[in-house]
Amino acid sequence: MTRSHDIVVEDQFGIQAAAYVASSVHAAGEDLDALEAVAERERPDRAADLGSGGGHVAYRLAGHARSVTAIDLSSAMMSAVRDAARQRGLSNIETCVAPAEALPFEDATFDLLGCRFSAHHWRDFDAGLREARRVLKPGATAIFIDVVSPGFALFDTHLQAVELLRDPSHVRNYAEGEWTAALARAGFRVRSTQKRRLRMDYQSWVDRMRTPAPHRDAIRSLQQCASAETATYFGIEPDGSFSLDTLQIGATACRARV
Ligand SMILES: C[S@@+](CC[C@H](N)C(=O)[O-])C[C@H]1O[C@@H](n2cnc3c(N)ncnc32)[C@H](O)[C@@H]1O
Repeated sequence: MTRSHDIVVEDQFGIQAAAYVASSVHAAGEDLDALEAVAERERPDRAADLGSGGGHVAYRLAGHARSVTAIDLSSAMMSAVRDAARQRGLSNIETCVAPAEALPFEDATFDLLGCRFSAHHWRDFDAGLREARRVLKPGATAIFIDVVSPGFALFDTHLQAVELLRDPSHVRNYAEGEWTAALARAGFRVRSTQKRRLRMDYQSWVDRMRTPAPHRDAIRSLQQCASAETATYFGIEPDGSFSLDTLQIGATACRARV
C-alpha cells in the first residue's frame, strides 16, 4: 500500500483528534503562555493557528483577536476543534482544512500567526514557511514553536530515529540554524528565540500515536543501546520517558518579500 505523505499525516492524526484536544503536553506550557502574551500585546484583527491539531494555540489567541482561523490537514482535527471551541464558548474560531504548503487565503490576510509542534511533519518545510509569510501582512508577527534537533549529529540521529519509529508522519526536527536559515529564505526576520526542555512520558507518547509494538520495541532497544552521552543528553529514564528541546521563534514578516 502506498500513501502520499499528506495521507500518512491525516491517518496518523485524524483518528487521534480527541486525544490531542485532551493531551496535557499540548494543552499547557510556558510556550503557550508566551504566545498568548504576544497576542494580548498585539491585539490582532485576524489571527491564524497553522497546523492547529487539537486547537490549543487557537484557544489562547481567541481572547485577544477579532477572529482566529485554525488550519490543519486533518478534517477530523478541525471537527474536534469546532466542538471544543463551542464547548468553551469561543465563537470567533473558524476552521480550515488545508496543507501548510498551499494555503487557501489571499496574500496579507492575517495580522498574527502561531504555529506549534506542526512543522516537523510538513512534506515541504520551505513551502510551508513561504505560505506562512505570504498570508501575513508585512510587518506582522509569527510565532513558531517546535521540537528542535540539538544540532549535534550524535544526538540528532538518535532523536530523528526514535521520532520516526514512533510516528511515520515525522519528517525532521530541524536544528535552530536550519530554522533561522529557512525563515530568512521565506522572508521572515527572526526577532527572538527561546529554548525549553520538555519531558515526554514514554507510555502516553507512544499511545497517542498508536505506535505498533515492533516499533515500541525498537525505540526501547535504541534507548537501551544509547551511548552514555546520548542517554544523559535526553535524560532517558528506565521506563523510556525522556526530555527533548523545544524552540520558540518570534519572527516578523519582512516588508519586501525576499
Ligand atoms: C502535534 S499536532 C499539533 C499540535 C498543536 N498545534 C498544538 O499546539 O497542540 C500536529 C498537527 O499538524 C498537522 N499537520 C501536519 N502536517 C501538516 C501540513 N503539511 N499542513 C497542515 N497541517 C499539518 C497534523 O494534522 C496535526 O494535527
